[in-house]
Parts: sequence; structure tokens; C-alpha cells
Amino acid sequence: MKLKTQTRYVCQACGAQSYKWQGRCEACGAWNSLAEEVTAVKPAASKNGLVTVASSSGWANLDSADEPLTRILTGVGEMDRVCGGGLVPGSAILMGGDPGIGKSTLLLQSLCLLAHRHKVAYISGEESLAQIRLRARRLGLQQSPLMLAAANDLGEIIQMVEATEGLEVVVIDSVQTVHYAGLESAAGTVGQLRFCADILVSRAKKLGFCLILVGHVTKEGMIAGPKVLEHMVDTVLYVEGSRDHQYRMVRAVKNRFGPTDEMGIFQMTGSGMEEVANPSALFLEGRHEGVAGTSVYVGMEGTRPVLTEIQALVASTPLSMPRRAAIGWDVNRLSMLLAVLEARVGVSFANREVYLNVAGGVRVNDPAADLAVAACLMSVLANKPVPADWVIFGEIGLTAEVRPAVMAEARLKEAARLGFTTALLPARSASGITVPEGLTLKPLDSLRKMVGIIGKNEKGA
Ligand code: TYD
Ligand code: MG
Repeated sequence: MKLKTQTRYVCQACGAQSYKWQGRCEACGAWNSLAEEVTAVKPAASKNGLVTVASSSGWANLDSADEPLTRILTGVGEMDRVCGGGLVPGSAILMGGDPGIGKSTLLLQSLCLLAHRHKVAYISGEESLAQIRLRARRLGLQQSPLMLAAANDLGEIIQMVEATEGLEVVVIDSVQTVHYAGLESAAGTVGQLRFCADILVSRAKKLGFCLILVGHVTKEGMIAGPKVLEHMVDTVLYVEGSRDHQYRMVRAVKNRFGPTDEMGIFQMTGSGMEEVANPSALFLEGRHEGVAGTSVYVGMEGTRPVLTEIQALVASTPLSMPRRAAIGWDVNRLSMLLAVLEARVGVSFANREVYLNVAGGVRVNDPAADLAVAACLMSVLANKPVPADWVIFGEIGLTAEVRPAVMAEARLKEAARLGFTTALLPARSASGITVPEGLTLKPLDSLRKMVGIIGKNEKGA
């Protein structure tokens, strides 16, 4: 049966569709991002049997008894942690990240472990079987009874999956290489991505296996490629980290079966992705103590407190618009903090370039890092080190007030465990909590109080 087709122009950046070509996408404003895509109007009638029929069986009650959610533990603790306690049968996970960041390595390792206890398959459209075997051998995993396949064609993949009874986990690496022959557009275009993912996800739900789709995120235009899939899947994981550092953070940005913002931390080594059980100790390794312009911040990564070092540097400049740069932190937030320091506290960075760096290639999103950044900036300006055994956290508002941070007790406990003796924290977080042994609290309600503790302003006040 011949498919009825329809031509549309789909923005490769945001997925918006239009019926005529335009130089600029009306939805997201990207230039030259519209590509012609021929979509099949009735994919349900294809000869591959890719039928998608809505299985509506009427209304249901909220309190009727379902089978309890049983999760599949991968055996890689950090991976289970980000998934909210293991993989959920019948669910779909999208694992995004830059090419070369370690997605294939991590999934191959997890699946090889799983294969000893569960029926799992790894389908690669990017690497040949020989390449996968080579990688497995290098990782010492060649004994694993993992089912392998190299396939690109959606019909072929569906047939293989349906013909295998009792499959529990299927990895497709990557979804950008999967191609449905009924659509004329090339593999990896928004139309193909959406169609293939839709079919695969519905198969996972119907057959009850956990589907893991790998999606590359690249700087050049395809950034939204896998993003258009985010709403179709139950869990979205992003693998982050710079290729120049060995740390890799796997973050859950969406999870229908667990908390988001949970993070798994790995180290890319010669023998693959190794779990990092004690991230704080790792991030603080190699710290130069007694140097002005560094402070230690205790942040929350999901439910886990992690200590990180923040570094700042200032350099005088004749420019009227001095440079402000931040690595691992939001540069707008840095500008805001500098403005608060100048306008409310009297600590001015005019005629000075400001550079901020979160050590170890970590990216900090927690607003409670403000106070540690402020301490770091004041310290470098006053050329007075923050004592090495202090930890700092708290959010700063525009009136220089120090706002409470969540989970203060957990943060303090981790700081005490690593031998820190003093904590600068929001006054409102400090009341009514159990203070861990060996830790002295310095509660602050305003950033102005920090001047007396760490830096002096230029008038010496
Ligand atoms: P890979 O998992 O192929 O990345 P992705 O699937 O996200 O594109 O990771 C490849 C990189 O990891 C490559 O640059 C080499 C490095 N690597 C190691 O450092 N150690 C190892 O044991 C392996 C297998 C890869
Ligand atoms: Mg890969």
C-alpha cells in the first residue's frame, strides 16, 4: 500500500512546522533552520506493521489496584540513583549529551552488568559489532551475555524486538541514526526522530521493556534534535562534563518515576566510566589553601550534598566595560552579585575584570552558591584568604539579604564529615537545626555582615 505523504517545512532547531519555506523560523527565530520534510500521513497502514492504535478502554479509577512498580537495578549505583532507584519496566529514558562524552560507554557497562541477571539488548546504529566488541574487550566485559545488534532501520529494529520474548531493557544508540523507510527525510531530522521515537516508545509500553534512547546534543543546530523527544519519554538524563576533565555528571532533568535534579557522578578512566562514591573529596582534591579568592561551597545535587571549590580572580583594566566571565556558573548571576556588592555593600569592582571558576569542571545551578561566590570575590579583592576549613552557602537577594537555603542540615553534616570547622550560612537556616559535632556556625542575615568577616571595602570601612 502506498503511503500518502505531505510536505512540510520543519525547523531543525525547535521542531516548529510551517507549510511554506521561510528564511527564519517564526517560532524560535533561528535562521536557515527550516528543512523540507516529507511525512507520511498514515503510517498506521505501512507494511512493516507499525500500527499505532490508541488502546482506550474507557474511564478508570484513581484508586484501583495496579501491580507495584518493580524496578530493575543496573548494578551501577550512580546510574540507579539518577533513575530514581532503578529502571522502570515499560518506561522510556532519553539519555542526551555531547558526542564523545561517554554515553555509549556508560550504557554498555550498565547493560553488560545487567545481562547477567536480565534479558537486555544493545542496538547500535553508530558502531559496528566489531567496534562494540572491541570496546567491551577493552572494558573487560566481553564475557557478558548481552544481546548485540547493529541496525538502523526502524522496521528491522521493531521486528527484532518483537521476536525476542521477555526482553527487559533495550538500548538504542543513537535515536538519531534510526531511520524509517516510509519517510523520505534523512535520519536524524526532526520528523524522523519524532516518528521513530513515538513507535519505539509505544512498543516499550506495550511489551513492557525499558527503552533507553541515546540522543546526541551538538552545538550546531541539532541542540533541539533530542529536545523534541523530551515530552515523549518518561525520564530525561543528560550526561554533562567537559572533555578536558575526567568527571562526568549524569543529571535527571525530567523523571516521572523519581526526583529530578538527582545526579550521578562518574570519572572517565582508561577502564570506562567509574562511579565516584565520594564526590566532595574528589572535587576538593588539589586545593591550594591560604590563597585569597577561593571558597568552598556546599551545594545540593539532588538529595546529596556536594562540596565544591569556587575560585575568583580580579585584574585591573582601563576598559569602561570590564570583562566578567564565569565557568561553571551563570554569568548573569555573577553580574547581579557584583551589582549587589557595589550598590548595597560598598564593595566595588569597577575598572576590574572579574573571572569566576568552579573547580573540577562542575556546573553549579543552586542559588545557594551566591554567598560562597560573594565571599570569594570579597576575599580576592581584599587579598585576604577565606580560612581553608570554612564552608559557605546561602542565596543573596537584591537588597543584600541572605535568604535561607534548603536542606541546611544535610549540607552541614557533609561539611563536618570532611573535617570543616566553620560554616557561614543564612541566619534563617541556622535556627532550630541540629549542628553536627565539631562545626561552628556563623549565621548571616545580610551580605554587609560579611565585610567584617572576610573583606574590607575600599574605604576601609
Ligand atoms: P563514548 O561513550 O563513545 O561517547 P558517546 O557515546 O557519548 O559519544 O565515549 C568515547 C570517549 O570516551 C572517547 O573520547 C574515549 C573515551 N574513553 C575513555 O577515556 N576510556 C574508556 O575506557 C572508553 C571506552 C572511552
Ligand atoms: Mg556513542
